[in-house]
Amino acid sequence: MPPKRDSTSSAAPTTDTLSGLGGDKAAQSITPAMVALGDSIFHGKVGNSLCFTCHGPEARGSTLAPDLTSGRWLDTDGSYSGIVTVIRSGVPTPKSHPNPMPPSGGGVLSEPMLRSVAAYVYQLSRRKENRGAP
Ligand code: HEC
Repeated sequence: MPPKRDSTSSAAPTTDTLSGLGGDKAAQSITPAMVALGDSIFHGKVGNSLCFTCHGPEARGSTLAPDLTSGRWLDTDGSYSGIVTVIRSGVPTPKSHPNPMPPSGGGVLSEPMLRSVAAYVYQLSRRKENRGAP
């Protein structure tokens, strides 16, 4: 697991990732049902995107793709709409991984499915237990 953000200042927004916290209007549209559907999509039970094969079953990353739970981002600002956008377009030129992420993770996602899997990633990245002490 990569090192955690300084645990003494977990409430302090730094450069990137927490910019959406509190002020992320788009995120207010997320419902528990979307997160549940997003979980199924992420794990390939619904739809044909296999996010977990690269990002890992718990989204904690692998040699192929980054940890999505850390609250640190390479390719998005970490806002809900930023996460939707990066999943929709994929990552043609990864910053620190050998191969690109294809659009929609290589599958076909309807707009509601895209928003749901993004909602799942969004809430994973903001879980309290993923912050603070290692
Ligand atoms: C073929 C492997 C692969 C698959 C499948 C895949 N990804 Fe990715 N993903 C990547 C890579 C590579 C990156 C870019 C990492 C980098 O910049 O080094 C990435 C980046 C991301 C990011 C941005 C992370 C950041 O740090 O900014 C998100 C969010 C994401 N993926 C979500 C998903 C979701 C959701 C799915 C399924 C719909 C998915 N990915 C499927 C490989 C994959």
